[in-house]
Amino acid sequence: LADGNALGGFEALYERAGEDASAIPWADQAVNPNLVDWINENPGKVRGRVLVVGCGLGDDAEHLSQLGCEVTAFDISETAIRWCRSRFERSDVRYEVADLLALPADWSVGFDFVLESYTLQVLPEALQDRAIASMAECVAAKGTLLLITRGREPEEPEGAMPWPLTKSQCAQFTAHGLTESRFEEYWDREDPPVRRYRVEYRRASDVAPV
Ligand SMILES: C[S@@+](CC[C@H](N)C(=O)[O-])C[C@H]1O[C@@H](n2cnc3c(N)ncnc32)[C@H](O)[C@@H]1O
Repeated sequence: LADGNALGGFEALYERAGEDASAIPWADQAVNPNLVDWINENPGKVRGRVLVVGCGLGDDAEHLSQLGCEVTAFDISETAIRWCRSRFERSDVRYEVADLLALPADWSVGFDFVLESYTLQVLPEALQDRAIASMAECVAAKGTLLLITRGREPEEPEGAMPWPLTKSQCAQFTAHGLTESRFEEYWDREDPPVRRYRVEYRRASDVAPV
């Protein structure tokens, strides 16, 4: 970030880790409990073709695959994707290197469930609108996008990365053909607890690929 290279730092971080997950601040090598809780409360919404945004070391993608979904998971870091493939050699997940800001055209309206957990909050605000538009575009007709993020009130300082999102930043998803169907705000079970927003968006109507 200090070098004005907002995205290249992720590859550098994964590369320097040398397959030592303890060097990656967010990699706890376990499925995200905020995702598991939501799935348990919403049986049936995770189905079909699934896209995992900024998949890191792949634990959420593997969990969704084990639930029977056809999962594509991507990250901007080549090293992270190589690492996922070697961690889960027999995986059915399609792991891809891709930049959220320039996704393959054939992913447009291609997924019944899109998971975005903790990637928006590491992107500088100047890139967030494009990132949100890009994720929203991947949601198929009648599909769901789940956002899991740190949250803050607008008057609270944003602090250092990961930058918590405000509710109005989250609401940008509704500018791209999605409807907010559920907004949850809670303190999670981390120590110390983190204020989370977990938001579900739906694409109600049929859409034509753009
Ligand atoms: C904070 S980590 C979260 C990883 C994973 N979702 C998790 O919960 O463990 C954010 C991830 O987003 C990836 N990322 C950042 N910018 C990206 C972009 N423009 N396109 C795709 N992935 C990106 C990073 O490489 C990193 O793996």
